Amino acid sequence: MVPRIVDQLLIAADEALRTLAGVATAARPIPGRDEAGGSQPRHSAGLMRVNHSGEICAQALYSGQALFARSDEVRAALESAAAEERDHLAWCRTRLQELGSRPSLLDPAWYAGSFALGMASGLLGDRWSMGFLAETEAQVEHHLEGHLDELPSDDRRSRAVVLQMRDDEQRHGAMGRSLGAAELPYPVKLAMKAASKVMTRTAYWV
Ligand SMILES: [Fe+2]
Ligand SMILES: [Fe+2]
Repeated sequence: MVPRIVDQLLIAADEALRTLAGVATAARPIPGRDEAGGSQPRHSAGLMRVNHSGEICAQALYSGQALFARSDEVRAALESAAAEERDHLAWCRTRLQELGSRPSLLDPAWYAGSFALGMASGLLGDRWSMGFLAETEAQVEHHLEGHLDELPSDDRRSRAVVLQMRDDEQRHGAMGRSLGAAELPYPVKLAMKAASKVMTRTAYWV
């Protein structure tokens, strides 16, 4: 019989390839299908490219964390949230295509870095892993709120996607807290903010 970890590593590798190949499909229809697309496609595309990279990171984090989840409850929670993150990824990609643009060229690098971080937090145990998840989701929620200010007001399609993502991330954070999330030390939170700033600033352009 194949050891469980080998099995899981193969699943993780398959997830990585699917995520980066852009073949993720959404289980839920894209929000804002009947809305208007806006008059500043370049600016909208830059912002949605950042969000797409964020969702690449989310896939990698969840995948890395699930690898070392101790309890079945935590693993199941990670998997159900990852399915919603897959919707986000597919929605952002669709939106980028509609705007005549493409994902960030650095997505494989974001994936690799985030996967390593996810594994590290998973190795520290469920409480820290859930703490890391809750803090990540809180920071993403804050970031998406910022994008709702920045996105052109007439790009109602992108805004609908970001709004639904914000609501989902809020729920993921609450899930992490309900599963006993530990409060991360302040310097760790700051380092996470600094790392995501590098990603968000770069992905807008590249
Ligand atoms: Fe997401
Ligand atoms: Fe999330």
